[in-house]
Amino acid sequence: MKTQILAASDENLHYCAKLLKEGYLVAVPTETVYGLAANAFDDDAVLKIFKLKGRPSDNPLICHIDSLNMFRSLTNDRFTILEKLINKFWPGPLTVVVKSCVKFSKYAVANLDTVGLRFSSNEILKKLINYCGFPLAAPSANLSKYPSATNPNHVLHDFNGKIAAILDGGQCEIGLESTVVKVDDDRCVLLRPGAVTLEMLEETIGKVILSKGLTERLDYNEKVLSPGLKHKHYSPKAKVIVVRGSFSSFVKYVSDKLNFRTYCVVFEDEIKFFNKFVLSFGKNSKQQAKNLFFILRQVDDLNLDKVFFRCPDETGLGFAVFNRLIRAANFEIVDL
Ligand code: TXA
Ligand code: MG
Repeated sequence: MKTQILAASDENLHYCAKLLKEGYLVAVPTETVYGLAANAFDDDAVLKIFKLKGRPSDNPLICHIDSLNMFRSLTNDRFTILEKLINKFWPGPLTVVVKSCVKFSKYAVANLDTVGLRFSSNEILKKLINYCGFPLAAPSANLSKYPSATNPNHVLHDFNGKIAAILDGGQCEIGLESTVVKVDDDRCVLLRPGAVTLEMLEETIGKVILSKGLTERLDYNEKVLSPGLKHKHYSPKAKVIVVRGSFSSFVKYVSDKLNFRTYCVVFEDEIKFFNKFVLSFGKNSKQQAKNLFFILRQVDDLNLDKVFFRCPDETGLGFAVFNRLIRAANFEIVDL
C-alpha cells in the first residue's frame, strides 16, 4: 500500500472520510500528537491499529469526537464536575474516561464498559469526524513503546507503506498527549498528565486524585485504573537517564561521559557551556513538551547509545514532560 501525505483540503478530507468508512486507517493531526485513526465502531478496522502499532490488547484507545452533541450520544454521564471540566477545557487537550452507553468496538475499549473521549481543538480532525459521522478511535501514531509522532514525517517513518494516508496538519502545537482523567460522581482521578495541568484541573473542580504509577514504576501485575500506565512507553533505542540536580553538578557528572555515542540534553541557555555531544531541550516547559518526542527520535537518528537529560521542572506542564521522560528512561533517575 502506498502511504500518501495529503494536504487537508476539503476534497482530501472527504476522501479520508471515505477511507475510514471503508475500514482503512488514516493518520490525523491533533493539537497534541498525531493519531492513528479508525472507525471506533468497526472491530476489523480497530484491530488493524493494534496490529500495526504492536499495542497490547488490554490498553484501550482514546475515541475522538467532534462536538458536545456526539459526546451526549455516547455517554449518559452528566456529573457536575464532568460538566465543569468539559465546559472549561473542550475543545482541547483533555480526555475524559466515562461510562459508555453505546457499543464501541470491543477492541477499542479493551472490553471495558468505559471509554476515553476526547474533543480535540484541531480543525482538520473536527471536520474529518464530522464528515465521517462516527467517533474515531485514535491512539498516538507511533509504534508501541517508541516515541509519539508530532509531525507527518514521524508518522511516515513508523508506518510507511502500512496505512492509506496521513493528513498533513503540520507540526503539533503541544507535542505531548492529552491529559486523561477518570470522572465518576464527584471524584476525578488523573490518569495521565498533559497540557491541561493538575493545577488547572484543581482550580476548576477542587481536589484531584493522582493515579498510582504517574511517577513511579508499577508492578506488571498491579491493578490500575488506566492500563496504559503499566506499559513501557516512549523509549528510543538508546538508554535514557534523567539527572536531577543543579546545572553545575550535572556538568561535573556528565563531563567525562560524553562522546559521539553519548550525548546530553540541557536547557537552552546552558548549551553554550558545551561545544559538542549536546542537544537543546528548550528553555521552558512549553518548549520542552514540544521538543521531547522530537529529541527522542533524533537520538535514534544519531544512533546514540546513551543520553543524559537534565530533569525538567516537575510542576505545571513540566509534570507531563517529566512523566513521559521517566518512562522513556524506564524510571532511571540519578539524584545528585
Ligand atoms: O493526545 C492524545 O490523547 C493522543 C491523540 C492522538 O489524541 N491520543 C493518545 O491515545 O494518546 P492513546 O490511545 O495512545 O492513549 C490512551 C490512554 C492510555 O493510557 C489508556 O490507558 C487511557 O488513555 N485510556 C483510554 N481509555 C481508557 C479507559 N476506558 N479507562 C482507562 N484508561 C483509558
Ligand atoms: Mg501512545
